[in-house]
Amino acid sequence: MTDKKAHLTVDGLDAAIELPIYNSSTGPDVIDVTSITKNGFFTFDPGFMSTASCESKITFIDGDKGILLHRGYPIDQLADHSDYLETCYLLLNGELPNDTQKQEFTNAVKNHSAVDPSVAALIKTFKRDAHPMAILCSAVAALAAVYNEGLDITKEEDRKITAHRLIGQMPTLAAMVYKHSQGEEFIAPDSTLGYAENYLNMTFGKAGQAPKVSQVLAKAMDRIFILHADHEQNASTSTVRLSGSSGTNPFAAIAAGIATLWGPAHGGANEAVLKMLEEIGSVDNIDKFVAKAKDKNDPFRLMGFGHRVYKNFDPRAKVMKQTCDEVLAELGLENDPLLAIAKRLEKIALEDEYFIQKKLYPNVDFYSGIIMKAIGIPTEMFTVIFATGRAVGWYAHWDEMVSSAYKIGRPRQLYTGSVQRDYPSK
Ligand code: CMC
Repeated sequence: MTDKKAHLTVDGLDAAIELPIYNSSTGPDVIDVTSITKNGFFTFDPGFMSTASCESKITFIDGDKGILLHRGYPIDQLADHSDYLETCYLLLNGELPNDTQKQEFTNAVKNHSAVDPSVAALIKTFKRDAHPMAILCSAVAALAAVYNEGLDITKEEDRKITAHRLIGQMPTLAAMVYKHSQGEEFIAPDSTLGYAENYLNMTFGKAGQAPKVSQVLAKAMDRIFILHADHEQNASTSTVRLSGSSGTNPFAAIAAGIATLWGPAHGGANEAVLKMLEEIGSVDNIDKFVAKAKDKNDPFRLMGFGHRVYKNFDPRAKVMKQTCDEVLAELGLENDPLLAIAKRLEKIALEDEYFIQKKLYPNVDFYSGIIMKAIGIPTEMFTVIFATGRAVGWYAHWDEMVSSAYKIGRPRQLYTGSVQRDYPSK
């Protein structure tokens, strides 16, 4: 708290309402409005455009400057020098691990990467063409049934092992969801492989064959996981916090987060980007689609452009763009027709007055979709990959919340419906 106060004057009130102001370590300070209910008001902020829903020490974003920090470290530095599991440790614990801590954490995650047969059986009950996010959401919720005994959210030890189970099993579940859609046998996790390498082997490997994963692709996959690891109080993370605030277990809260991520305005955008590129079909059609995106009477939007918070280049997109070039070169796909559309679209949109004025830049999903397509991951699986990387962020936020004093989240409303009236007599 600071000595500074805000004073809210309201017509009809004798005195101004005094509101405390809290300092942030960087970024905007906040005005504490909790006391205004005593004066008979709620605050009104649909879409939470000006609401800090919690205090957090995990991730900082400055959307105007295009800055993203995890525990203070810039995302591009983590993408260049760290790896996904080290970034997970950082998000969960607040500091980078030393060598011993990193090894212990890696071992703990690997030791918990096998999925219980009951969940494997559950996955097999779904239709082969079920959307992978529907299966993933159910499978993560089902982990609560498997670990029913170790889910005392007040015990630090239970919370720690749950983090290892979640991070360990997300790639296994993601790969199982894919194998099921292909009608192929599941591949068990291999503890001799790196995290992303193991995911690629479980996805593209064949039962009974030795793992053979390209290191360039494994590195690209690891970067995709790092770049999706956390993103402050976005819709799915806020869902996990709100859901968790009722005291429910973390698997249930994260299943709610997965459901939120599924939407095309959030994690589903990477899938939508590819569908849009396919719909555009040829470089010659780009102008028509750009015109549609600019037409106020047309609901069409350029998928992979714009962001609620970034009004500058998404710092994750910069790293992703570089990774995209590396992957396409490794796979010899520099002349891919879909990529040609993507590159041209990016150029046109970046030079178009509409996009410049509204500060609509390509976001992380624009490039991640192209990379995943090049790796051979089907479009419907893209959001599953996002969820796999994001699981640690959801968990870190849930853990931060339940480790501190918290209340059940219970927003209020501006009611504009009928006032009380009597049921008509018959
Ligand atoms: N194409 C064309 N126009 C757009 C776009 C777009 N992609 N995005 C925003 N606009 C326009 C919008 O029509 C509005 O115009 P006006 O002021 O004339 O009404 C203005 O820009 C502001 O848009 P908004 O919807 O009020 O902005 P928002 O902050 O609520 O929405 C967004 C952010 C990401 C939902 C939106 O930009 C969008 O729908 N983008 C496409 C989907 C997408 O790529 N989503 C991935 C987000 S990044 C992944 C993640 O972190 O989850």
